Amino acid sequence: MASKNYSVLLKLGDYLLNYKGTLVAASCALIFTAGVTLAMGQGVRLLIDEGFIAGSTDKLNSAALFIVGVAVLMAIGTYTRFYLVSWLGERVSADIRQSVFDHLISLHPSYFEENRSGEIMSRLTTDTTLLQSVIGSSASMALRSFLTFIGGLILLLITNLKLTLFVLAGVPIVLIPIMLYGRRVRSLSRKSQDTIADVGSHAGEIIQQIKTVQSYTQEDNERLAFAGHVEGAFDIARSRIKQRAMLIAVVISLIFSAIAAMLWVGGNDVISGVMTGGELGAFVFYAIVVAGSVATISEVIGEVQRAAGAAERLLELLAIESLITAPDTPTDICDTSSKIEFKGVTFHYPSRPDTAALTDLNLTVDQGMSLALVGPSGAGKSTVFELLQRFYDTDQGRVLLGNTDVRQLKPQDLRSQLAVVAQQPTLFSGDVMHNIRYGKPDASKDDVISAAKAANAHEFIEQLPDGYHSYLGEQGVRLSGGQRQRLAIARAILKDPKVLLLDEATSALDAESEHRVQLALANLMRGRTTIIIAHRLATIRNADSIAVLEGGQLVAQGTHEQLLDTSSLYKRLSKLQFQERSNAVH
Ligand SMILES: Nc1ncnc2c1ncn2[C@@H]1O[C@H](COP(=O)(O)OP(=O)(O)OP(=O)(O)O)[C@@H](O)[C@H]1O
Ligand SMILES: [Mg+2]
Repeated sequence: MASKNYSVLLKLGDYLLNYKGTLVAASCALIFTAGVTLAMGQGVRLLIDEGFIAGSTDKLNSAALFIVGVAVLMAIGTYTRFYLVSWLGERVSADIRQSVFDHLISLHPSYFEENRSGEIMSRLTTDTTLLQSVIGSSASMALRSFLTFIGGLILLLITNLKLTLFVLAGVPIVLIPIMLYGRRVRSLSRKSQDTIADVGSHAGEIIQQIKTVQSYTQEDNERLAFAGHVEGAFDIARSRIKQRAMLIAVVISLIFSAIAAMLWVGGNDVISGVMTGGELGAFVFYAIVVAGSVATISEVIGEVQRAAGAAERLLELLAIESLITAPDTPTDICDTSSKIEFKGVTFHYPSRPDTAALTDLNLTVDQGMSLALVGPSGAGKSTVFELLQRFYDTDQGRVLLGNTDVRQLKPQDLRSQLAVVAQQPTLFSGDVMHNIRYGKPDASKDDVISAAKAANAHEFIEQLPDGYHSYLGEQGVRLSGGQRQRLAIARAILKDPKVLLLDEATSALDAESEHRVQLALANLMRGRTTIIIAHRLATIRNADSIAVLEGGQLVAQGTHEQLLDTSSLYKRLSKLQFQERSNAVH
């Protein structure tokens, strides 16, 4: 298990290798400071033996100067090391963050239905931050400690073999509890991160749905539920820090007992004249360096292990392959017309493998023609749009655009031919300009304005506090439903697609804005292949053909008059739904 984690960390090395120059310079600085730290021990020996004991002021002066010189070198080396290593940490975590995001937005949409967004966000933020702290400090501390440990040990051996054996005997006594506790700490840290992600996603959802929470007066229950998450996270964090504190306590007591034992044995040697006081001073210095190194390693090892967990999750995320990919030799989109066909399509949503959303569906819309989809809620109407945009692949049957299977096209090419006006149009928190331009970021201001005019949106936009530069708030909360729809229509008009997919809003708009939306839609549909999920008689009558869906199946197709004769479902829908709405318009 542990070795797997470390191999994951090694894979991260690929990211580091992009900065070979900095890496080499940082390693040099690291080795240099480790060496200088060790040289300090010699300064201590000189100071004691040649200064104090020999009673020479000159020698004392030069020994003190030597120490100051070494300290200056250490300061310069540490400055360089700290700067370069921290730079690497920040740079690599920025790169990983970017590549995880780049990868995420190319994934198939169902991935985001199966994984909570809070969890994914926490990988992008918490996990990458952890990596940054490990690469930028913990790892270099561990490496530097490792070097001073090895160097210190060698110098110990040179200074006094017997005493060094004490140190070596101490090493396994110290390492075994470290490894035992380290393992516990690691599994707890993973849990701790998961619970923090729970806290984040819970809060995110509640804040997004704040009006529903308040209107059902569920504040107290939500507070309780949140407290549950927070306390759960705290409990896990507490047992983690308890284990870690324990780890540090064990290490400190073991190491300092060992040092005391050494001082006692070494002190006897000095008394009996086997070694000089300076040598004992240097020995103690090195022993402290060695002990400090082991302590540092034991302290950061938990951090490094946590980072291994974080890295594992990030690499897992990077390894997920999109289910929706372009074929090796995609068909050129220019060759395709904009005729739309569904041939024997059966489809189950991945999260509901047992219920078919569409069953053996056949539909054809010729180029430039329009088809209205009608049917009860849950009939599969919006699903037709999802498949046409290839957010999912069919289980059986084919979806064709201009006689080409959509799987033969690059998804971006396919989607560039389509524009969707959704049931609940999605707006971003930027300004009006940004939202209308979304499908065509390079459109000129004049183009945006004429699209807004065609969508009957220009007037209300002008009346907003900052006109086209008014901010809309998250998900466009500062606009009414009808205004949002007209912005979405303007966005589609500006994109100027060959194929239009309109999901008519079910919510009743007032007669005035309904009429405006209708006019905007009529502008948009002219000359394009259109599928419109219709709830209003006016829209249905304008369509070239009407398809009635129920339970994922096509149950009837024809014109309004034909269907009134042939389809009892249509007749019923028409009586209940369409008439009512058409009354509202007039
Ligand atoms: N992302 C999804 N994951 C799983 N099941 C889904 C998903 N989206 C829709 N469904 C299910 O698929 C079926 C068809 O849904 P669809 O959204 O196509 O209905 P609709 O005809 O557009 O209904 P409405 O008129 O209410 O918008 C429904 O039973 C729905 O519960
Ligand atoms: Mg729908």
